[in-house]
Amino acid sequence: MFPRSVLITGANRGIGLEMVRQMLASSAAPACLIATHRSGPGSGSVVSLEELKSRHSNLHLVQLDVVSDRSIQSAAEVVTGLLGDTGLNLLINNSGYAQRTTCLGQVTSDSLLAHFHVNAVGPIMVLKALKPLLEKAAVAASSKSEYGIQRAAVVHIASTLGSLTNACVEMRMDEYRASKAALNMLGRQVGFELLQAGIVSLLLHPGWVKTDMGTEDAPLTPSASVASMFERMAELNKEKSGTLIDYTGRVLPW
Ligand SMILES: NC(=O)c1ccc[n+]([C@@H]2O[C@H](COP(=O)([O-])OP(=O)(O)OC[C@H]3O[C@@H](n4cnc5c(N)ncnc54)[C@H](OP(=O)(O)O)[C@@H]3O)[C@@H](O)[C@H]2O)c1
Repeated sequence: MFPRSVLITGANRGIGLEMVRQMLASSAAPACLIATHRSGPGSGSVVSLEELKSRHSNLHLVQLDVVSDRSIQSAAEVVTGLLGDTGLNLLINNSGYAQRTTCLGQVTSDSLLAHFHVNAVGPIMVLKALKPLLEKAAVAASSKSEYGIQRAAVVHIASTLGSLTNACVEMRMDEYRASKAALNMLGRQVGFELLQAGIVSLLLHPGWVKTDMGTEDAPLTPSASVASMFERMAELNKEKSGTLIDYTGRVLPW
């Protein structure tokens, strides 16, 4: 079910960590699963990944802070060394950041820029750095192999809160919403270019999920959300490339 190589950003907790757990538990686990984490090795927030790593030789941990160009560059070099000529089949841009705002008085340029950096700029810079590896995987696939995650794909974890159509006064989170709207546009725009290189893309909303970001009030467990998102990823093809959908497959308004 899973392709040979997968890289997930922000994989040390929440939805990203659950993706790692489910991939490793699968009988069709990736031969090379790269889980990236912002904090240094040995730090408290990487404990769960390091415990998984001690039991799974196909799991590789790479430090990556998506707001640091230097960190992205050095992570790309490590990943290139791990994957070599086979390239990268699937990039999951999962890392994200959200603070709650309730009124214009709370918004600052620093908080706006921080949200845009983690949620929109970072994912595109990571994609830019890893694009040569995705291209390698697309070229390595036989000319008859179908477009999809088995060949070469990028999935951006999006949010329904990034939809302009769904803007509402009840749920402000203005900086987060605007940054996820920017991710939608960037993801869609670069998606056209990726498709020409044989790489499909998807903007995928996980639902409202019980994580540090989603809070305990969320109705969905990470386990249920991730299992459904993996089904959606498996269905990704040329026709669905560049769309914005939720974990059930419902097409969301931009
Ligand atoms: N939970 C929901 O209900 C929900 C709904 C819609 C969309 N989403 C999206 O789903 C994705 C995962 O969210 P989650 O609920 O799992 O959130 P989470 O539990 O808060 O985890 C966020 C992850 O992103 C990482 N991260 C933050 N800043 C980073 C940076 N500069 N560089 C690299 N990694 C960074 C965090 O690493 P650290 O541990 O180092 O901080 C952590 O691993 C996000 O893109 C989020 O916007 C979530």
